[in-house]
Amino acid sequence: MSYSEIYAAAKNDPEAFWLKAAEGVDWVTPPTQALDSSNPPLYEWFTDTEVNTCYNAVDRHVEAGNGDRLAIIYDSPVTGQKSQLTYQELRDKVASLAGALAAKGVTSGDRVIIYMSMVPEALVAMLACARLGAVHSVVFGGFASNELAVRIDDAAPKAIIATSCGIEPGRVVEYKPLLDAAIDMAIHKPDFCVILQREQARAAMVDGRDFDWNEIQSGIEPADCVPVKGNHPAYILYTSGTTGQPKGVVRPTAGHLVALNWTMKNVYNVDPGDVFWAASDVGWVVGHSYICYAPLIAGNTTIVFEGKPVGTPDAGTFWRIISEYDVKSFFTAPTAFRAVKRDDPQGEFIKKYDLSCLKVIYLAGERADPDTIEWMQEKLGVPVIDHWWQTELGYPAVANPVGIELLPVKLGSPAVPMPGYDMKILDDEGNELPAGELGAIVTPLPLPPGTLPTLWNAEERFKSSYLNAFPGYYETGDAGYIDEDGYLYIMARTDDVINVAGHRLSTGAMEEVLASHPDVAECAVIGVTDQLKGQLPLGFLCTNAGTNRPSEEIVSECVSLVREKIGPVAAFKQAAVVDRLPKTRSGKILRGTMVKIADSAEYKMPATIDDPAILDEIRDALVGLGYAGGES
Ligand code: COA
Ligand code: AMP
Repeated sequence: MSYSEIYAAAKNDPEAFWLKAAEGVDWVTPPTQALDSSNPPLYEWFTDTEVNTCYNAVDRHVEAGNGDRLAIIYDSPVTGQKSQLTYQELRDKVASLAGALAAKGVTSGDRVIIYMSMVPEALVAMLACARLGAVHSVVFGGFASNELAVRIDDAAPKAIIATSCGIEPGRVVEYKPLLDAAIDMAIHKPDFCVILQREQARAAMVDGRDFDWNEIQSGIEPADCVPVKGNHPAYILYTSGTTGQPKGVVRPTAGHLVALNWTMKNVYNVDPGDVFWAASDVGWVVGHSYICYAPLIAGNTTIVFEGKPVGTPDAGTFWRIISEYDVKSFFTAPTAFRAVKRDDPQGEFIKKYDLSCLKVIYLAGERADPDTIEWMQEKLGVPVIDHWWQTELGYPAVANPVGIELLPVKLGSPAVPMPGYDMKILDDEGNELPAGELGAIVTPLPLPPGTLPTLWNAEERFKSSYLNAFPGYYETGDAGYIDEDGYLYIMARTDDVINVAGHRLSTGAMEEVLASHPDVAECAVIGVTDQLKGQLPLGFLCTNAGTNRPSEEIVSECVSLVREKIGPVAAFKQAAVVDRLPKTRSGKILRGTMVKIADSAEYKMPATIDDPAILDEIRDALVGLGYAGGES
């Protein structure tokens, strides 16, 4: 069937479409109904089922006689280690860790925070939680103690599983002291922690609270898969919103299984046994869906890569891994390719490897600039597919469905909606805009299976963030337009979220940190265009009257404060002290205008601006920082 036939089938009879897709999952109690619409505008899928995610990702492949197939390949250029796990070995490791967690009281519905570097044990930990019906919440290692503490208090975990450290090029990041500080800071305390000691930095253990990963499993009875209801939360993943309080995106178990399984063939065009590689981190949704769950659910081999696109050791690392492990579909963020292109513009490393196994490359997480796509297409000779989705949705919502048919690629567009989505562009009043006009990107409710049914502990925030602005629709938070052929173009965010190296960050959260500096009276953080990372945060600080300390000192303290409170991942390195911030007469800071000045883009003087002269001061500050036409 063609894309348009499949898309139309899902639109005309979603019930039949998703029940058919559900046949790819092994159920304890199969669905008799797909959509549960008893509580609009909240919708759930497959609520009458019972199922276990770990069984579908691991055990069923062993039971089907594929226990010897490779499940996980670990390749870590930062430590020089490589290892592999078959499905059988993975099952034994997961069942053993799950047994240890169960023996310490973890049961279905309990939360478990996972704070781990990119090692296969991170997947083992996620799957062990899934085996018990425990709800994991993975926190990215680049976040600092304060961010971890906020998540501990919101998720209230019974246990925390962590590695002693992570390895960044040139430095070992000790995770355990960050974890200890977070637990001290948090009001909620976990019953216990499980620590995987890595030899690069062994952690000091807290007696009675911390248990060694290996010791806790010694003599343990392996745990079986615990069936859960279809709408049981599989995990919570915190993502940036407009404030310092992150949003806890809830992933429903059954819809997650059905939808992820559907995407592996239809979007990523891999069959069971094929090697699929998403170069991301388990701390992000890409890592959840396409390093851990989807490839395993579909019986593929997945790769856990602990390294960077460049410098570990060189810009040929991606090509070495693709060729060494026979990778068929490869997925990463555009930033990673910009880094490779910058270090190896002629593609000399590409020529060193046999890449005939590689059929398609997928990009998401941020805008894919046409230059980079063209470079990749030319140097690699395979289709480069931009596709669009979000933590909230969990899997591609707008894509080129290569496994169904390769639609014409249009540079700058992630292509067309996948089944269950029907992207529309609305103006501020909620009127649908014609082709080519820019507006808010929305899709009608109900969202398809696997997408967020709510936010953890925050149903009202779920409604106010996504449902209230345009009744009957899910508001994506992105702005863009649709062309005459139905291709979507993503142009910007409509909120205070920026995207730095494919990492979603909140400028509002950074402003909250800056405002806590004793000399800062007022501040603004904007995202400016960066050649490598897509965007970078930039701070503007107004100091308190009477502050006469040197600006450089205050800026440097503010930079350290953001690194300490949010983490190095914020990449907050530049700020300027200014006398005033540009505002509307009602006091709203004109961040959008500041961004345009920084990027040397055209802008209209806002009609409501209080004092246009302030924009000249802002321009001078930006030039000083190397933006707005200044030399960076
Ligand atoms: N634990 C601790 N610190 C981490 C970390 C982790 N897991 N991941 C990143 N950091 C730190 C980095 O060391 C860096 O610290 P620094 O300021 O001391 O240099 C900071 O966070 C920013 O990291 P990053 O954004 O990775 O930038 P970089 O300059 O180290 O590397 C690239 C640049 C392009 C190589 C890198 O951004 C990259 O690989 N991007 C691909 C993005 C990606 O895969 N995104 C996933 C979404 S799909
Ligand atoms: P995250 O939740 O971290 O996956 O970030 C989701 C956001 O990243 C989206 O709302 C977009 O703003 C941006 N994004 C993701 N994919 C793309 C893409 N293909 N093109 C442009 N922006 C993207």
